[in-house]
Amino acid sequence: MTKKHDKLVDLVTPSRPTGPIAHRVKGMKDIQPGAYPAWEFLLQSAGRLARLRGFERIDTPVLESYSLYERSSGRTSDIVTKEMYSFLDKSGERLALRPEATPGIVRAYIEHGWFNLPQPVKTLWYGPLFRRDKPQLGRYRQHYQLNFDIFGEPGPLAEVELIFLIHELLNDWGIEAQIDINSLGCVDCRPNYINELVKYYKEKKHREQLCPDCRKRLIKNPLRLLDCKEPACEALAQGAPQLIDFLCEPCKQHLVKVLEFLDNLGIQYNLNSQLVRGLDYYNRTVFEVVMPSESAQRPLALGGGGRYDQLIESLGGRPTPACGFALGMERLLLYLDPNKVEVSQTRPDVFLAQLGDGPRLKSLQLFEELRQAGLTVHQAFTKNSLKSQLALANQLKVKYALIIGQKELLDGTILLRDMESGSQEVLDLKRVKSIMLKRLAKTK
Ligand code: HAM
Repeated sequence: MTKKHDKLVDLVTPSRPTGPIAHRVKGMKDIQPGAYPAWEFLLQSAGRLARLRGFERIDTPVLESYSLYERSSGRTSDIVTKEMYSFLDKSGERLALRPEATPGIVRAYIEHGWFNLPQPVKTLWYGPLFRRDKPQLGRYRQHYQLNFDIFGEPGPLAEVELIFLIHELLNDWGIEAQIDINSLGCVDCRPNYINELVKYYKEKKHREQLCPDCRKRLIKNPLRLLDCKEPACEALAQGAPQLIDFLCEPCKQHLVKVLEFLDNLGIQYNLNSQLVRGLDYYNRTVFEVVMPSESAQRPLALGGGGRYDQLIESLGGRPTPACGFALGMERLLLYLDPNKVEVSQTRPDVFLAQLGDGPRLKSLQLFEELRQAGLTVHQAFTKNSLKSQLALANQLKVKYALIIGQKELLDGTILLRDMESGSQEVLDLKRVKSIMLKRLAKTK
């Protein structure tokens, strides 16, 4: 081949990247065939229970301005300092892939004037989030959350309603997790506590044991010292002063009311004085859904949230109390009871099997007819063998299969097979719809 020809080939053949085959970006996860029923089960159950309680589904964009997170999640938070995917847009604006949903939801609340809607506004949000975290089981760089938020309700009933909803959801999913609660106080009482906390950690014997990150936290965000996962820091946190002892009277009363309501509702919780959450906007009640984990040293958090009464105002909105929580889908899926998913699966009513081109065409028409009559019909028109079609029908746990071959097509009939007993009978093709509707009404 000539050199000229080689050049021509270069021009018409798109260049292929060489090297190892395409692979996933580190920390990202695919949802593979067979996995979706469990996701759908969680989403449907969450949607149903949230709708019953007056939550409305909303959505926000994946991209937001970088500064939104700096001003809300916190300039010194791990999310902003270490984990955010951000880049300069061609216009020079710094954007970020959302690492959490709350700031975007609050921005939308302010920007669209949701304070004009009847309050409280209750929202349900579902979508992917991006954190450049260290990947491990249950921790990914793209994960999905369900967020439930209530805007405009200052009283303790807002967090009680949210915790009650968590309790209902976990019950629906067969997950036995613990609900940890704490109060972070408010701008009046928290500074006194922080002073005491800093004093404790500045004592030489304590300071020396702190990990390098916590030494920085001592200056920038001392509350986060209580949340460090390093064993030495965890041990030190056990002996630290407790925020609950420093709460002002209104914050104390608020917490007492939340706990009283939960007691009355029979919801079990664990008061955890070390629970501080990793985001800057919380005040008063914070809570986390935790699952004791055998392998990890720390319990795995399935979800978390709390009150954030100052966030809307700090982002330029009217002062509006707010409260919310988020559940991590991938972590819920680790503990979801598979039987619950199985039971929730709708079993198809009928499987349509065919043998040959003519019957295939007829069953395509019949498929549409039965579907329009309200039946759930499955088929495998691409398969030729009856054995493999019936195997699929068995797998789908279908009660009836309708089989049509050349003979049936000529006679104007169809075979009805009861998939459980294996018994078969011949039906008039013209009457098959009404017969199936009658039979299935009996078995449902
Ligand atoms: P968060 O605690 O950062 O809270 O995240 C909520 C949940 O998302 C966690 O408890 C965990 O289940 C899941 N999650 C977080 N990071 C990852 C990850 N890298 N991989 C897998 N799952 C993860 C928030 O995001 C707050 N915005 C919640 C909130 C809503 N507060 C008020 N409203």
